[in-house]
Amino acid sequence: MKLFDVYPLYDIAITRASGAYVWDDNGVQYLDMYGGHAVISIGHTHPHWVKRIEDQLEKIAFYSNSVHLPIQQQLADKLGAVSGKNDYQLFLCNSGAEANENALKLASFHTGRKKIVAFSKSFHGRTSLAVAATDNPAIVAPVNETNNVAFLPFNDVAALEQYFAANGHSIAAVIVEGIQGVGGIHIASEAFLQCIRQQCNQYNALFIADSVQCGYGRSGKFFSHDYANVQADIYTMAKGMGNGFPVAGILIAPHIPAKHGMLGTTFGGNPLACAAALAVLEVIEQDNLIEMAKQRGMYIMNKLKEFPELSNVRGRGLMIGFDVPENLKSLRKTLIFDYKIFTGEAKPNTIRLLPSLALTRKQADEFLETLREAIDAVKAEAGNQVSVK
Ligand SMILES: Cc1ncc(COP(=O)(O)O)c(C=O)c1O
Repeated sequence: MKLFDVYPLYDIAITRASGAYVWDDNGVQYLDMYGGHAVISIGHTHPHWVKRIEDQLEKIAFYSNSVHLPIQQQLADKLGAVSGKNDYQLFLCNSGAEANENALKLASFHTGRKKIVAFSKSFHGRTSLAVAATDNPAIVAPVNETNNVAFLPFNDVAALEQYFAANGHSIAAVIVEGIQGVGGIHIASEAFLQCIRQQCNQYNALFIADSVQCGYGRSGKFFSHDYANVQADIYTMAKGMGNGFPVAGILIAPHIPAKHGMLGTTFGGNPLACAAALAVLEVIEQDNLIEMAKQRGMYIMNKLKEFPELSNVRGRGLMIGFDVPENLKSLRKTLIFDYKIFTGEAKPNTIRLLPSLALTRKQADEFLETLREAIDAVKAEAGNQVSVK
């Protein structure tokens, strides 16, 4: 049987990983500055995470959500403590799209309304409503098309206020990434997030903070929306939550009541996923990884700003983007194939860094030094002048 060919693949087969490194089937080592798309939060195959999953596997891997599964409450307690959102409620599911789908659905149930506000360059996943709220018509199937979603310009306070003034009483929710990931590392301004909070309060709509990529400590705070000192009504989480074990969830503000049957899932909150998620939070707490991400990110960004070839160095913590000029377009490929470093990209010319929050200073330096070499090599090959900022 063939695999359904939906992913444009690099011709590299990864078979092993540890910490900030992965190895291919020939034993070649790569530095992972991509974190498998922001998923690796505490480092590949972290020993505590492996042990926690192994121990759980020997006790019970799965039972349905028809009985108490005590490890779910342990996870909720730990998540409340580490995120600082102790009074929120936790609903567990399996992926980022599912988290957003449930958040949007819950907002609609709660408000009795249909309209969703999303923003330009947003990415919220590929399930029906999540994809309808994603600003990429190429991945929206005809059946997912809806006029219930309005796209407004990102970081535009006036446009938001105007839209609310005209439609506020039909809006169920505003969904916003604190730092847009797929869209190319764009930070939601504090004024913008505060305006969303204020408008949602005024019109009784819900504020959904998509923290699937920018959450879980990656930004240097548990939720990147925390930089604006606002409380969202719902936070959605996935990627870093399980360090590679599929687990996701939504945090729901105390004023939103649950009703039996309102949301549900077979696999969500299974004991094995909870064990993986608990291990992640334990390591984040013990190794002070949120502060580490903040410090390491600042260090990397300051150094990147010294590269004359790179522009618009931006981000928070270990969610970093920078733009490369036209004649360095092949830099990402060169980094992978010639210098054995994985990075992420965003169209048209952004390189994204989303490494493990446990990235060491030495590994950061290894990246920066190799980046210098790779840029010089691409320039030499192009044999032409690179535009200087
Ligand atoms: C901000 C954001 N939301 C949602 C998703 C969807 O998550 P998943 O691929 O786990 O469904 C992603 C994935 O990249 C994301 O970056």
